[in-house]
Amino acid sequence: MYRNFVLALLAASLLSACATSGKTNADAILDHKVDSVLKLMTLDEKIGQMVLYSSDWDVTGPSLKKGYLDDIRKGNCGNIFNAHTAAYTRKLQKIAVEESRLGIPLLFGYDVIHGHKTIFPISLGESASWDLAAIEKSARVSATEAAASGINWTFAPMCDISVEPRWGRVSEGAGEDPYLGSKIAAARVHGFQGDNLADPSTILACVKHFAAYGAPLAGRDYNTVDMSERVFLDTYLPPYKAAIDAGAMSVMSSFNELFGVPASGSKYLLTDILRTKLGFKGFVVTDYTSINEMVNHGIVANEADAGLLAVKAGVDMDMQGEVYFKYLKKQVKEGLVAGKLIDDDVRRILRVKFMLGLFKDPYLYCDEAREKREVYAPAHLDAELDVAKKSMVLLKNDSLKALPLKAGEKIAVIGELAASTRDLLGSWKAAGDWNFMKSTLDELKAFNGEANVTYAEGCKTSGEDRSGFAAAIALARRADKIVLVIGESCDWSGEATSRTSINIPGVQTELLEQLKALKKPIVVVLMNGRPLDLSKESLLANSILEVWFPGTMGGKAITQVLYGQYNPAGKLTMTFPRNLGQVPIYYYEKNTGRPIYLANPKYKSRYIDSPNDPLYPFGFGLSYTTFAYSDIKLSTNELAEKGVLRATVNVTNTGTVDGEEVVQCYVRDLVGSVTRPVKELKGFEKVAIKAGESKNVTFTITPDMLAFHRLDMTYGTEPGDYKLFIGGNSRDVKETGFVLR
Ligand code: NOJ
Repeated sequence: MYRNFVLALLAASLLSACATSGKTNADAILDHKVDSVLKLMTLDEKIGQMVLYSSDWDVTGPSLKKGYLDDIRKGNCGNIFNAHTAAYTRKLQKIAVEESRLGIPLLFGYDVIHGHKTIFPISLGESASWDLAAIEKSARVSATEAAASGINWTFAPMCDISVEPRWGRVSEGAGEDPYLGSKIAAARVHGFQGDNLADPSTILACVKHFAAYGAPLAGRDYNTVDMSERVFLDTYLPPYKAAIDAGAMSVMSSFNELFGVPASGSKYLLTDILRTKLGFKGFVVTDYTSINEMVNHGIVANEADAGLLAVKAGVDMDMQGEVYFKYLKKQVKEGLVAGKLIDDDVRRILRVKFMLGLFKDPYLYCDEAREKREVYAPAHLDAELDVAKKSMVLLKNDSLKALPLKAGEKIAVIGELAASTRDLLGSWKAAGDWNFMKSTLDELKAFNGEANVTYAEGCKTSGEDRSGFAAAIALARRADKIVLVIGESCDWSGEATSRTSINIPGVQTELLEQLKALKKPIVVVLMNGRPLDLSKESLLANSILEVWFPGTMGGKAITQVLYGQYNPAGKLTMTFPRNLGQVPIYYYEKNTGRPIYLANPKYKSRYIDSPNDPLYPFGFGLSYTTFAYSDIKLSTNELAEKGVLRATVNVTNTGTVDGEEVVQCYVRDLVGSVTRPVKELKGFEKVAIKAGESKNVTFTITPDMLAFHRLDMTYGTEPGDYKLFIGGNSRDVKETGFVLR
């Protein structure tokens, strides 16, 4: 099977490998294996390992390279992305292993962002579950399916914090909060990579987009990022760090500039922060042609210099740009790049290939029988249904209690999205297939009977066409309740989908206005990949259920939540503003010198045409039941330097149905050497509480959780007074205080 001699050589050389000082046996053996391969390689072959090309199976960027098969054969391309299925990746792997001189196996990367074939809710939606186990499971299932289809590397998790709803890529992240974002990043890495990368059901994770890609000015994708170093370190860096601490072995450098330097040329980011500060041991791949784009950024005059900047900054692998391929050899020969630098880059890439088990069996991930078994396995679809329901957020359910729907009620289902299957998958659908899926409408009919569920499109998600209004209104007139499924189509979020408005597009809201005149209960089911301005809809609808893009089983998940078979418990992980003018808006803002609560009516930090507070705050989400919080009990009012503080509340389910509540704990550092946020999330727990019952929830606070970058940029705590808050969202909280000694 393995024609080439790399393996035999390894076996022979292992015996002497274990003596390296300061390293574990396993590390020493791995290093030795890597070096054994490295020393066989020509400079061309080394550069070949530092190259990643897209196959023509999927297009995820502006350019496609022709002739990648030949590059593989010649040892000029060691890594491929956008190729999948066990059969096709086997074909490519066979070329690498059997036809290239050294037979070094390929890595196969793909954007398995929220599923491979079984598609889970978009990541922003999944984050709203606040359920780390379910999120990890979703990544686990995604890895299992991808690994069975030839993939051994996913370009996920995206760990970009964002407070920018205009930016379409918020759909791919975990929202605005560094604490929650860090927990989710770690859960996703663990889900993808498991405990052992060599396990054929796990795949390599890629932490992206390093760094601060989520803060483009004006929300325009790829735009300049400009923030203080303190904000970067305290707010944007933690989720990347958490992913690396969780063991992620690859990182993607982002398109954007930070501190005036594009990330792919930033030694500060890729070496000083990533390797020195965070101790990252894996390899760095660029985002798609981002080395080349440094010419456009204006940091270098030509592509050759761009490559030089990138390789010296710490980029190990060039995605799609062909810059390393074209210029690196000459630059090494001319002494512009040290051979040792190239060796180190290649070592890091080979190391990961060893860790994935590819040198043992290059076809480990190309097993067609396994692919048949794993793809769309019933347990995977069950896991997706579970997390899809958990991701949904009930934003409104007024006293009419239009939700939950009751079996037998006549419902008029309206909206293009209700009948769509493709849209349920959202952006980055990987290899997901919507042709066999059921739409929300199909599932509602299956649940409540064809006779009780009627449908009219009403209008499209975008455009000005109102010709379907009359039929939709006539249909609604004959129904008991209206279920209006509106929002954004799936391709309105994801990469390159920035918007200058965050309104519901087209004439959908106008249709809602006209339906309102019928005076029937209206339930809005909202599909979207970003926070939207719902100021009008929140007045017109009796109930609003935010379902994001819920994935392969999305129609069923929506139906079960609408009919109360599942009591919604999701909570927003991004603030929903009242209007675009409030953006950026996030709960961890600073107080300012003139906060809005001052008595003076004019000279304070406020708008003259809008309240300051958002429509729906971070952490917000309703349930079909209600919860009451007791006052907070502290184990101590004084937190010693090495001490522990426990904060407990009693939460009661005061309604008539069982439910789950995400109990959230925030703190505020009242006086700092630099100003501090008005609230910072420091803990959360999702608890199931039966109707009429109560549960105690306790949070443990230790001083290290209160650390930040102080005035002199050292990281640590400062003694003083703190507030501590606990509640069901970032706004409605109980409050107490403690002192940090
Ligand atoms: C560009 C995107 O920014 C990145 O997230 C993705 O992984 C690559 N293209 C590869 O498709």
